[in-house]
Amino acid sequence: MADLKQEIERRRTFAIISHPDAGKTTLTEKFLLYGGAIQSAGTVKGKASDKHAVSDWMEIEKQRGISITSSVMQFEYNGYCINILDTPGHQDFSEDTYRTLMAADSAVMVIDAAKGIEPQTRKLFHVCAKRDIPIFTFINKLDREAQDPFDLLDELEREFGIGTYPMNWPISCGVNFQGVYDRAKKCILTFENHHGGRQRLEAIACDITETEKLDSLIGEYRRRELCEQVELLDGACFDFDLEKVRHGKLSPVFFGSALNNFGIEPFLESFLEMTTSPLTRKAEGGEVDPFDERFSAFVFKIQANMNKAHRDRIAFMRICSGKFERNEEYFHVQGGKALKLSQPQQMMAQEREIIDTAYAGDIIGVFDPGIFSIGDTIADPSMKIRFEGIPTFAPEHFAIVEQIDSMKRKQFDKGMRQIAQEGAIQIFTLPGSGMERVIVGVVGMLQYEVLEHRMLTEYGVKYRKTDLPHTLIRWVENKDIDISRLKLSADTRWIQDFHGNDLLIFSGEWSIDWALSNNEGLILSEFDKM
Ligand code: G4P
Repeated sequence: MADLKQEIERRRTFAIISHPDAGKTTLTEKFLLYGGAIQSAGTVKGKASDKHAVSDWMEIEKQRGISITSSVMQFEYNGYCINILDTPGHQDFSEDTYRTLMAADSAVMVIDAAKGIEPQTRKLFHVCAKRDIPIFTFINKLDREAQDPFDLLDELEREFGIGTYPMNWPISCGVNFQGVYDRAKKCILTFENHHGGRQRLEAIACDITETEKLDSLIGEYRRRELCEQVELLDGACFDFDLEKVRHGKLSPVFFGSALNNFGIEPFLESFLEMTTSPLTRKAEGGEVDPFDERFSAFVFKIQANMNKAHRDRIAFMRICSGKFERNEEYFHVQGGKALKLSQPQQMMAQEREIIDTAYAGDIIGVFDPGIFSIGDTIADPSMKIRFEGIPTFAPEHFAIVEQIDSMKRKQFDKGMRQIAQEGAIQIFTLPGSGMERVIVGVVGMLQYEVLEHRMLTEYGVKYRKTDLPHTLIRWVENKDIDISRLKLSADTRWIQDFHGNDLLIFSGEWSIDWALSNNEGLILSEFDKM
């Protein structure tokens, strides 16, 4: 029991979110270097694949076996056991990316200091914010020309509606970058180009009032600038409040340079101190305490194996309570059956290995013979709980997909349904039309590539796909109206889900406004169900 408590207390499970190229891979790599999980830079993969064209993706997946390499990594640092959940950017972006965030207890948001908030960061941030998980901001690439740090903070606060608290403050940027001033520890971390490896930088204790010492460290001009800015910060910015941080209302901000390994270790240390070990999770049947010794977990991602020879799938579970033991009998709530998970896998940096035990906070992957769905609960039989489902995220791209060979009707139907059930795509019907013609909705275009590949290789089906211009989707809440009689702009389309619920898809906000103002009493609601 003591062992269980200790193990869970030292766990930290977080996601890294960023827009492509902000430096997520570089930062992850530095974390792993500090944890001793890798020996040299350039080993974190997922990055290599990011650089490939979309069509190469399947090939890469095959080489990787399954794509867990880049999605979950575990390493040890200063007594902590850390699980990093990667959220792919680039072409890999899909609904999976959003779902991965459901398994994290906090998020690290990497921002390019020259670019500020970019679209992908915005999307991912909103998913984290809906769950109120703590968000830590790392403003990267201070070794390059950067935006004014006050402007960056202002943008974060304005766009995301959260408070920010700079933990350190940059002393200039680009070629003039001198380092950062640590506000709490009152010390300067001086910047020298290209600190490779795991070398630890010694901070120089120096309060903002120590004029002479500061002058000798960063020069008089920079000292004046720094003092003015820090004074401004002390007067104008939010007070530090750990409770607010832990509820996602205040984001601690760190400035640094991942590539130069600058400011990473102080960031990691503060981050680990401020975040908590796994928290209780809501479930039907009561809240689940992570320290409950009984095992419970939910499935947040299902990865179909791209290898044609092995049609197996891997279901990824986030452990929410207790200790997992291989070959122990657990209960799959949605399937209503007892089961044993005999080959659970976990990632230790690059290596995938079969594990015997795991604890709350950890992520394990298990072979799925087709029994699991996204959001399923697996738990100790005595627990009688069901975790709250994983939200469905609003598709942003839509296409009509039609079968072209009527002899393959059954396979088309089966394939589309199964792939949708795994959560790889979302499908809708056109009222009055059968299953031979469906609307496929996705959040990332890569999902279409995966669908086409899987339909062909697993179900032997080719289809015709016509992209639609729609980007927005809304539920029609009114149950008693005749949708066909609504006055809608020509580009608005009526579709249904598989339960016969009505939805409308639009090509812009303008069409939504038009629908609302021309149909009195019409109630439209956002698609995301959290
Ligand atoms: P991502 O995972 O968020 O997409 O970003 P990634 O780490 O791959 O970094 C994107 C590019 O930015 C890389 O350059 C990387 O070296 C660079 N970078 C990351 N952190 C810093 C930093 O602190 N300062 C500077 N100056 N550059 C940084 P690349 O040329 O695209 O790739 P590579 O050829 O260097 O591997």
